[in-house]
Amino acid sequence: MILGTSKPCLDLPKEIDKMYIDCNMILNIIKSYIVVKNTSILDIGCGNGFYVFGLADYVKCIYGLDPSNEMLESANNNQKFFNKKNVKFYNGSIENNHLKNKFDIVMFTYSLHFTDDSNASLLLAIKKLVPNGLLVIIEPNKKYISSKLLIGHNNFDKKYYELKQQQLIKTRHNVYMFAKKHTLLYTKFNDKNFIAVIRI
Ligand SMILES: C[S@@+](CC[C@H](N)C(=O)[O-])C[C@H]1O[C@@H](n2cnc3c(N)ncnc32)[C@H](O)[C@@H]1O
Repeated sequence: MILGTSKPCLDLPKEIDKMYIDCNMILNIIKSYIVVKNTSILDIGCGNGFYVFGLADYVKCIYGLDPSNEMLESANNNQKFFNKKNVKFYNGSIENNHLKNKFDIVMFTYSLHFTDDSNASLLLAIKKLVPNGLLVIIEPNKKYISSKLLIGHNNFDKKYYELKQQQLIKTRHNVYMFAKKHTLLYTKFNDKNFIAVIRI
């Protein structure tokens, strides 16, 4: 069962500081492994473009892919605000898309656990990478999800929360198993998220 979201949870132009803080943290990690300014990036599950717009100034080009029309509408509205020339958005999922390009970096940004089968999604993602490309996975962790799902509030849905936790644990496990077949360059598990960088 996939626990999805179809509504952008941030009004990006009002959250610019947060966007750049999060994206700088990612840039600081990946710059140890690649010359970032020359890179092409695919953000799978780009949502409203949080990472696309936050990284666009530092890379050659960045494409966002998302199956949700509502998310893409929000991303395209945000593009009117940010007006980045090296950004494009595509409608599609990791399982079903028409993208032919290969990228230096493919990212899942809080999206891998939404896909039907995270193992299969990781295998599909590496087909979008150039040889020796980087796969970057950012997933939410327990504390972050607890605050998003309003633990302690009257309308807190315990069953939904527990399913979501199971899904996150399973996805992280699959990432570690997948990384064993490649080169795990970096992994971090903090209050907010889980980050893995894998060289393919
Ligand atoms: C929590 S949002 C993350 C949005 C954005 N990356 C961010 O960090 O703000 C998860 C996104 O994954 C997308 N998604 C769900 N299933 C997907 C799939 N199979 N392939 C690609 N994206 C998917 C959803 O439409 C949603 O926009």
